[in-house]
Amino acid sequence: MKIQSLRGMPDLFPEDLERWHYFESKLTYIFNSFNTLEIRTPLLESTELFSRSVGNSSDIVNKELYSFLDRNKESISLRPEGSASVIRAIIQKKQEHEKHKLWYQGPMFRYERPQKGRFRQFHQIGVEYLGFEEGVSEYELISMVLQINQSLGISDYTLKINHLGDAHAKESFCNSLVSFLEPHANELHEKDQIRLRSNPLRVLDSKEKSTIELLKNAPKFQDFISEESKLFLEGLVNSFKDQCDIQIDQSLVRGLDYYTGVVFETVSSELGAQDAFLGGGRYDNLSKQLEGKDMYSIGFAIGVERIIELINIDDSGKKIKVGFIVNEQQISQKTYKIADDLRSANSCIILDTFLSGGSIKSQLRRANKSGCSFAIIIGEEEFKNNQAIWKDLREDGEQEVLSLQELINQYINL
Ligand code: HAM
Repeated sequence: MKIQSLRGMPDLFPEDLERWHYFESKLTYIFNSFNTLEIRTPLLESTELFSRSVGNSSDIVNKELYSFLDRNKESISLRPEGSASVIRAIIQKKQEHEKHKLWYQGPMFRYERPQKGRFRQFHQIGVEYLGFEEGVSEYELISMVLQINQSLGISDYTLKINHLGDAHAKESFCNSLVSFLEPHANELHEKDQIRLRSNPLRVLDSKEKSTIELLKNAPKFQDFISEESKLFLEGLVNSFKDQCDIQIDQSLVRGLDYYTGVVFETVSSELGAQDAFLGGGRYDNLSKQLEGKDMYSIGFAIGVERIIELINIDDSGKKIKVGFIVNEQQISQKTYKIADDLRSANSCIILDTFLSGGSIKSQLRRANKSGCSFAIIIGEEEFKNNQAIWKDLREDGEQEVLSLQELINQYINL
């Protein structure tokens, strides 16, 4: 039997990765402009890191963690997200008192049921701002999110936002929600009954009709958070409402236990059921929970597979491609030297070679297929005379014979 990749862990081929590279280059440019610096943490961490941060009651830790015993019988897990590792790294370096603006990227792992937009190995690009209390950092991160979407040509989305108050407000709301729902527990869908017992706030995320109906009369988060938090949330919405569709969503609690304060998500109807392509919020208590010192923390992560679906590629900055075609008998040190000279003369151009040779005609066909705009052809005659044919492949196929110096000049000026 042929070996297949694991379920929910797709391969990415060159034709897929063109969009990824475009996305990554736009994002690194934006992160630079905010002076947000990259951090890389391991894919494997001790399981306890995730049970203590993401939360024992969350689905991510309960059912979705890829955990194993290593050779030393210690339980280790593939990371399901990036924030916990970043906080662990800063605590380990004893830098909780400093301010950090960080970004990261890479694969994350969750044993979920695969479907469109939901994978077991997926990728995130995330940002964490550490050491900044509630205030300007919320504004800066949301404007970063808007800038990212704008630079990728994504305009049709909603930014949902909520304020979960501090840990105390979150707990009182949770208790009140449980007291309200418990007498109606058997009216809830089976899945929501389980959530009510394990992680009651997640009932608010339910897509079940009966639950949604029941929740209409349930206590509201807004009644548990302070006036100050409410005003802060309204201030945020008012500041950004002219730039995007931003909406307060009181049922937005997010799936990880560590959040307090502002939480947000961007959703697009173009994505189907898995419509959130970015999510984040404030999580000031996580450092303490991991035995670190107090550290204000806020961030977000983008689901790369999902956002990639929404990108409109702007072709204007795309590199020009030129095919370098050499008659099989002429392939030698000399022709390779010409190719090298051309590459060093203008590194903004892709010079594609067709290594298995074949006739000039068949190489030209391959140049056209691979999207070359021009071809440089060195046949028998040209090789003898230190010349090359310059051929325009775009429309009428015009061509001219050039000396090697003229060829280099032409190439530099493309
Ligand atoms: P999250 O909402 O669990 O948050 O994930 C962020 C994004 O990752 C989601 O909005 C979604 O686009 C994508 N995503 C999640 N699971 C999958 C999956 N199975 N397949 C494909 N894409 C997926 C976090 O992970 C937090 N660490 C974000 C954060 C950073 N909060 C503060 N700082």
